[in-house]
Formats: sequence, structure tokens, C-alpha cells
Amino acid sequence: MIVSISPGKAILLGEHGVVYGKPCISVAISLKVAVNIEESQEFYVNNEPLNEKKHAYMKKAIERMWNGKPISITIFSQIPSASGLGSSSAITTACVASLLAMKGEFSIEEVAKKSFEIEYEVQNGGSPNDTSACTYGNAILTWGKKMPGYLWEISKGNRKWYIYPVKAPDIKFVIGHTGTKSKTPLLIKKIRKFVEYSSFGKELIDEMEKFVIEGKEALENKDFVKLGELMNKNHKILHTLGTSSKEIEKLINASLKAGAYGAKVTGAGGGGSIIAISDNPERVANAIEKRKGKAYIVSIAKEGVKILK
Ligand code: MEV
Repeated sequence: MIVSISPGKAILLGEHGVVYGKPCISVAISLKVAVNIEESQEFYVNNEPLNEKKHAYMKKAIERMWNGKPISITIFSQIPSASGLGSSSAITTACVASLLAMKGEFSIEEVAKKSFEIEYEVQNGGSPNDTSACTYGNAILTWGKKMPGYLWEISKGNRKWYIYPVKAPDIKFVIGHTGTKSKTPLLIKKIRKFVEYSSFGKELIDEMEKFVIEGKEALENKDFVKLGELMNKNHKILHTLGTSSKEIEKLINASLKAGAYGAKVTGAGGGGSIIAISDNPERVANAIEKRKGKAYIVSIAKEGVKILK
């Protein structure tokens, strides 16, 4: 039996742009998943036979990485599924970490690489940002630009991403889950069309870059007012790209009215969650709950994926 734990993630700035090699800052969050794997008579997930549709990530992980005896996978998750908070990335990284450990091949870089391959295939696109954030923990910058100090690089076709550590202070964020599902593959496809077929779409993606670079500095310098401003600007672009919804706007407006420095959709959007930054997280969380969102006050998870023996 092997148990592994992985944090979820929240994107502070730069989602969607990162698919095209633009920079993106994410934090691992204190909502986590645990995955237990043990030998079994048949392949099972949560006591049900492994099912291609229902357990797509696990099915792919087994197909690509496992030729041993049948295994039974049990998942315990604090992360709502399809919420934009990295539930599938966390499950994938935890599962991959365990399978690698069972084969005696565990390394953090290998977890990040294999998990990205699996997520990319299941979602039919995307970047290694989410799986790398869950793997590494803390805060990361994912970017197509090569500079010194990167943790690992990951390529797909002719695109290459470099993952950098970010020195994030100890802060709390407020997450507001709308209760509607964020459909990542659909949103990635929709934005891809916009970016490929219109110069306006491409300009919007290009414009996000400076907000992310400034945001990294603001985060590292604990300038939360500035970070909030940049999150608001980033949200305007994401909204124009078509990743918002009326539920998302409702929770963002509630957060800003409650005094948040900034609030934006987090993750692929179309549903899912918002992230807000404030000097009074409880007040923002209350405002979100009053508008029928589910609020979580999260801190940055210092550790990424981990095997518990
Ligand atoms: C989803 O959490 C983040 C996106 O940028 C997709 C990706 O990077 O794979 C929308």
C-alpha cells in the first residue's frame, strides 16, 4: 500500500496565456488530495471498476506507467471537482508519484513531466502549469522564456515551458467557488480559436504578460495592493476572452465590495472559482457566502506532492 498527498492549485495571474508560452503565476493551496494505491484482483477506483470516462486521468496513468498487477486506487479529496482549483492535477500528480514510487523511479521532475503528459492527453491541450504547481508546492512561475534558476523544463511539440520558483510570502487568499463547473478542455479550445483566428485575441494574450511580470514582483515584495490591482486588470482581459460567467462576476463584485484589493476568475473559467486578495479574508469570505458562493480561506501549501510511506 502506498499513500501520496498533493495540494491543489490556484492561478494568481496568467491562465490561458500560459498555454501559448506566456508567463503565469500559481500557488499550491492548502486544499489537498490523498491517493491510496494497493494491489487488487481487478483495476478499481474508489471501489468501482476502472472506467475510461469516469476515471480518465487514472486510466491514462495506468496505461502509460503501469504494467504490474491490478491495483485499486482510492481518492480522498478536499478539492471540489471541476472548480478551477486543480483537483484533477492534484489527483494526477499524487497518482503518478505513487506509481513512480512503486516502480522505484520517483523524482519530482519525473512526476511533473509524466503528470503533464497525462493531463495534456486527457484535456487535449494545455500547459504544464497546473501539474507543476501541484508537484512543486509553494508558488511557481511557468513561462516559455528561458532564464537562469528554473526547476525543470517541459516541452510539447514545438513549445517549451520553464518552471521557476517564486518567493511567496505567507499569505492567505480567499477562494469563492461558484458551484458551477469549469470545463477546462472546452475553455482551452474556445480560447485557442479566439487566439488563432483573431488578432484581437492574440493581442489580449500578449497584454497579460506585463501584468504577470509586475505581479511576481508585487507578490515577492508583499505589495498586496498592487497585486490586487493587477489581478483586476488580468480579470478584465480574461472576461474579454470569454472565460467569465454571471456567477463569477457576482462573486468578484461581492469580494471587491467587501474591500478586496483584487479579485479574478482563477483557472480555466466558464464556471469554477474566483480568487481574491484582502487584508480581511473573513469579511470577503462572508460576502461570497452571502451571494451563495462557497468560500475557502486558503494559505499557500509549502510542500508539493509527497509520498507517505
Ligand atoms: C487551467 O487551470 C489553466 C489554463 O491555463 C490551462 C493550462 O494551462 O493548461 C487555462
